[in-house]
Amino acid sequence: LLVLENTHTRAGGTVLTPALTKALASAAQRHGTYVHLDGARLANAAVALDVPLRELASPANTVSFSLNKGLCAPMGSILAGQAKVIELARKTLSRLGGASIHKAGIPAAAGLLALELVDRLADDHRRARKLGSLLQQIEGVRLDPERIETNIVLVDVSRTGLLPDELLPLLAERGVLALERDTNRVRFVTHRLIGDAEVPKAAEVVAAVVAGYAPEV
Ligand SMILES: Cc1ncc(COP(=O)(O)O)c(C=O)c1O
Repeated sequence: LLVLENTHTRAGGTVLTPALTKALASAAQRHGTYVHLDGARLANAAVALDVPLRELASPANTVSFSLNKGLCAPMGSILAGQAKVIELARKTLSRLGGASIHKAGIPAAAGLLALELVDRLADDHRRARKLGSLLQQIEGVRLDPERIETNIVLVDVSRTGLLPDELLPLLAERGVLALERDTNRVRFVTHRLIGDAEVPKAAEVVAAVVAGYAPEV
């Protein structure tokens, strides 16, 4: 089994092009290897590359696609593939207890709306680049702006004097939520509830905390 992930979360939301997806998938399939595309954030890749989702998805045998995350549904994801694979997936879901979700139509309705929100991801991407450019100006904060291809900003904070697990609670107290990526890096994500005004506010909080003073905002 070859599993591709697009966008690649741990690499900072970086995208895999249709050409590379096709090349990797056909190399695997030539050798009888099944290809699954973890497209939890495939809509971000499609928007960033300005290509149809189908072009990124079609080389794989199966594709999973999240309706939550940037597409804003409260829950839910889609699995796409050949009918016999979906049949098997339904049986497996049933064995795992997932086939008896009551009122599944309610999250499904939100999922249908989510599919209309693909284009808005461009705003998240623009705001992530803006956040990156502001964070980059903070002493001790290091990031590669070229790697901000979608809605994720990976930041190395090791030279700020604060480790991620020391920095994150200080940010959270001031309303800025981020994730510890590893011992040196922190992950910021932009989404529908982060507008143009929130981006400089978040950067200001990081700057203040790193500089050793930390006003409430
Ligand atoms: C890379 C990746 N794949 C899959 C998932 C699972 O997605 P879902 O919650 O839509 O099933 C996640 C969720 O965070 C993810 O980050």
